[in-house]
Amino acid sequence: MKTKVLFVCLGNICRSPAAEGVFLDLIRKKQISDQFHVDSAGTSGFHAGEKADRRMRDKAKERGVSLESLSRKFLESDFKDFDFIICMDGQNFKNVKRLDPSGQYRHKVFMMVEFCSRFKIHEVPDPYYGNEDGFGHVLDIVEDASEGLLKYILDENRKK
Ligand code: 4NP
Repeated sequence: MKTKVLFVCLGNICRSPAAEGVFLDLIRKKQISDQFHVDSAGTSGFHAGEKADRRMRDKAKERGVSLESLSRKFLESDFKDFDFIICMDGQNFKNVKRLDPSGQYRHKVFMMVEFCSRFKIHEVPDPYYGNEDGFGHVLDIVEDASEGLLKYILDENRKK
């Protein structure tokens, strides 16, 4: 059975596509892609159908990571369809939790920064209205967190 991982931010054009691309790159390099299904979504549908922001795609490309996803809105059915729902900031986390009022899926919902080891931060900052450096900073964070997340998932799967 594949482990299904969904990265979530607000617009699904900057942070969560970056996290998706970086995580996909990581599992490809480790030759374990076939064990995973990876996707991303936004709590808003403002950018549905769009490619990731050009600035995010360019910064990722500089690191050899191609961002291919198209934006979509987070759906309630994602709670059933995914094993790990990884939120980029506190607002995304709150918005996702609000769609699970009974809390039956709360064990699936995490903050991306929980898996960081180098960065001691509370959330992945929204780079959308900032300058170029913000996009590189997001990539630094999601690279760090992806390593920790993968380790966590592999440890959890070993316990099953
Ligand atoms: P993301 O960034 O949540 O990382 O995709 C944003 C993208 C678009 C907007 C805000 C944040 N927006 O307001 O349109």
